[in-house]
Amino acid sequence: MISQDILRVIDANRQRYVDELIGFLQIPSVSTCSQHASDVRKAADWVFNQLRTLGLEAQICQTARHPIVYGCSAHIENRPTVLIYGHYDVQPPDPLEEWLSPPFVPAIRDGCICARGATDDKGQFLTYLKAMEAILAVEKTLPVNVKVLVEGEEEIGSPSMDDYIRGHRRELAADVVVLSDGSQFAPGIPAITYALRGLSYLHIDLQGPSFDLHSGYHGGLIANPIQVLVEILAKLKDPCGRVAIPGFYDDVEPLQQWERDEMSSLAFDEDHLKAYLGVEHLTGEPGYSSMERKSARPTLDVNGIWGGYCGEGAKTIIPARAGAKVSMRLVPRQQSERINRLFCDFVGSLTPPGVRLEITDLCGCDPVLVSRHDAGVRAAAKAIETGFGRAPVFVREGGSIPIVSLFKESLGMESILLLGWGSPDDGAHSPNERFSLDDFHCGIRSIAALLYELQAP
Ligand code: BES
Ligand code: MN
Ligand code: MN
Repeated sequence: MISQDILRVIDANRQRYVDELIGFLQIPSVSTCSQHASDVRKAADWVFNQLRTLGLEAQICQTARHPIVYGCSAHIENRPTVLIYGHYDVQPPDPLEEWLSPPFVPAIRDGCICARGATDDKGQFLTYLKAMEAILAVEKTLPVNVKVLVEGEEEIGSPSMDDYIRGHRRELAADVVVLSDGSQFAPGIPAITYALRGLSYLHIDLQGPSFDLHSGYHGGLIANPIQVLVEILAKLKDPCGRVAIPGFYDDVEPLQQWERDEMSSLAFDEDHLKAYLGVEHLTGEPGYSSMERKSARPTLDVNGIWGGYCGEGAKTIIPARAGAKVSMRLVPRQQSERINRLFCDFVGSLTPPGVRLEITDLCGCDPVLVSRHDAGVRAAAKAIETGFGRAPVFVREGGSIPIVSLFKESLGMESILLLGWGSPDDGAHSPNERFSLDDFHCGIRSIAALLYELQAP
């Protein structure tokens, strides 16, 4: 059991933790933009210094793109080992003009810290470091052996992790892995996640004529790549919203009745969601509830589309090229590589002569289901009750965390605790991302309690 002394230290240092988070959030560690590579490096150094200050043995490992930071406590025999994971990279902040305050100048508004990375994942990850700091301040040692793995490529699909994990099995060996990179079910209702969706994310390029043409000289003679593109995109889903790629649903595990019942017993507030999103109507695959659609069923979305003349006024052209980015969220038993193949075959079959098709794989990962009935999960539920004053519910999350299926498949980890302190309204990946300071604080309390619960789970 955690001592009241430690919880008191956490309460007493609440403001300093926020000040440190502000420093972390000031670093624009946008992993997908090459011009931010040195900022990503700065964030890695920031994490490294935190680990060193905690007295962990820490190292920075270079990869083809952004470094992995690893640290571990001095090993104590007969104590369980907990592997903590987080990511210090963030998504691009665009569209900048929609931010009420600049994305890398953290501002406190309505009890929240507002900045890119506040909830995803810098704020949530920092709760682990501050929990350990508070424990060490009171007890001098941690109740469990701790290993910390923090990467700067999560938001680009963790391309270096496969190799890193293969090469560092011994360093990463642990009894349980824990991370907070999701959210609560709703504000004030904490959750433990037992499934994540996978991802296939592809980029389509269509090349027509060698250069933009006068649409009068040449109109009527050749295929227009934008027209071809939108016809292809329109055929990827049927009018009801089911994905129309042949074979797409073949491996999808049907939802069991107990799980559907459990999901419908959670009070998912559709009106609140509609108001938050600014839409009058929610829509999706027929035959499934909103909860099921957003977490337990696969989807396809066009993320971006471009081509032709988008400047002011009229310019009469047939564009030379057009493109789109398409992502598919996958559910257990679907495999990202197979889905990529099915997508390429289908889009290829829809592409008429007269345009050249090129498809590139942007990133992807497999979906994952984790155990919700082991000692680690029970420990996490108790710790969350200590931290938040309320027992968690169990949910599937619709997002993806590529490393989680590697923990399970490549490292053979059985006990994987997917926690989340943020709120679904935190605006991860959106303008004005934020993280409630109360959630930050309760998260620190929960992790401190969890390390004690895991001591003898
Ligand atoms: N923290 C998210 C994953 C997440 C989102 C978990 C929502 C639970 C609920 C993570 O940082 C993320 O955004 N992942 C990417 C992964 C992708 C780039 C491979 C995602 O889901 O788009
Ligand atoms: Mn994240
Ligand atoms: Mn993210």
